[in-house]
Amino acid sequence: MRALCWHGKHDVRVDNVPDPGIVNPRDCIIKITATAICGSDLHLYDGYIPTMQPGDIMGHEFMGEVVEVGPGNTRLKVGDKVVNPFVIACGQCFFCGKQQFSACDNSNPAETSDISLTAYGSIMAGLFGYSHMTGGYAGGQAEYARIPYSDIGPIVVPPGVPDEQVLFLSDIFPTGWMAAENCEIEPGDTVAIWGCGPVGIMAIKSAFLQGAERVIAIDHYPNRLALAKKNGAEVLNYHEVKVRAALMDMTAGRGPDSVIDCVGLEAHGLSPDNVIDLAKSQVKLATDRPHVLREAVMAVRKGGKVSIPGVYGGFVDKFPLGAIMEKGLTIKTGQTHVQKYLPQLLEMILEGKVDLTDIISHRLPLNQAPDGYKHFKNDQDEWTKVVLLPG
Ligand SMILES: NC(=O)c1ccc[n+]([C@@H]2O[C@H](COP(=O)([O-])OP(=O)(O)OC[C@H]3O[C@@H](n4cnc5c(N)ncnc54)[C@H](O)[C@@H]3O)[C@@H](O)[C@H]2O)c1
Ligand SMILES: [Zn+2]
Ligand SMILES: [Zn+2]
Repeated sequence: MRALCWHGKHDVRVDNVPDPGIVNPRDCIIKITATAICGSDLHLYDGYIPTMQPGDIMGHEFMGEVVEVGPGNTRLKVGDKVVNPFVIACGQCFFCGKQQFSACDNSNPAETSDISLTAYGSIMAGLFGYSHMTGGYAGGQAEYARIPYSDIGPIVVPPGVPDEQVLFLSDIFPTGWMAAENCEIEPGDTVAIWGCGPVGIMAIKSAFLQGAERVIAIDHYPNRLALAKKNGAEVLNYHEVKVRAALMDMTAGRGPDSVIDCVGLEAHGLSPDNVIDLAKSQVKLATDRPHVLREAVMAVRKGGKVSIPGVYGGFVDKFPLGAIMEKGLTIKTGQTHVQKYLPQLLEMILEGKVDLTDIISHRLPLNQAPDGYKHFKNDQDEWTKVVLLPG
């Protein structure tokens, strides 16, 4: 089959690779009908996530048709249309029992899980197409994919629903939803959201659906800010205003009730702290550039909530722990517990309570995926979300 493979920093290629097959009884194989490039894929593309190997198949946002089902899976049948969560979870361990699926203890095989044990003190769950630290599983930017624990993860969608309406259940809609849920939004709340990429836009939609009165969104790309505005947010361009001062002005000097970092470890901007982080990361003295997180912590009101869906990978410095303690902030974060949210969010889409398709800017055949990566990285203003079509 054809699959998009990582070969090094800024080097991804469509290769011919062996078709996947059933390995364990609970597996299934799906023929991919649609898959998307995520901001998280850019961290791999930019070489920030360790333990990638040349030839690794990328992609964790995908859906398709079931073409083969293992004998241990009685839930799915050949022909079912499914959307697949990017998190791999067994459904049976201590953490899955608490619906903390991205903490699953069983989905990261022993030979790879030691890396996260050393880096994070605990074993992380397996993720599709996201380095050998998270299991080295083949991703879904391909013609076919093997789904482990497929009796737990993939959600069946009714026939006739267009792929684009449900594809983002694989990651970014649940991610935006959990990011908003982590703000414990109360009536009258103002939520500030950094980053108007796909995750930021999903967080805006989710914050309103969860009852936020105001959402203030921050970025510098005009098209992305316009999309945020269309979704009901007030917007700030960080090239034009001082973000914290503007947020104070807009909230009667108090600060937003909660803040969401939808940017993560590759913050842009020429603020002094970010320039220092950038220089340090270029000489491998730092892994992450947490400028947005610092700014969000400083801007949120006393007693406020800090939600971090943006990905961080290592250690950060100049972290305002004093502000967090003295202001009495709550921080919540994590890889999304996708499986927990799927039934509820699918229902909302089918009932027409939310439309997710407005973020899609480009649709490309899988063969053009390398171009898709290049533009999604370098032309972010126009390229808001790329859907790849293997067919
Ligand atoms: N927690 C999870 O499970 C999960 C799931 C999916 C994605 N993510 C992460 O969410 C983040 C966003 O993903 P995406 O697909 O939207 O990525 P993206 O790269 O398309 O968007 C990031 C946006 O942040 C903006 N930005 C950069 N610096 C900024 C600054 N200083 N202030 C304000 N905005 C700034 C950029 O202009 C860009 O529009 C990534 O870190 C991604 O890895 C996490
Ligand atoms: Zn993703
Ligand atoms: Zn588990």
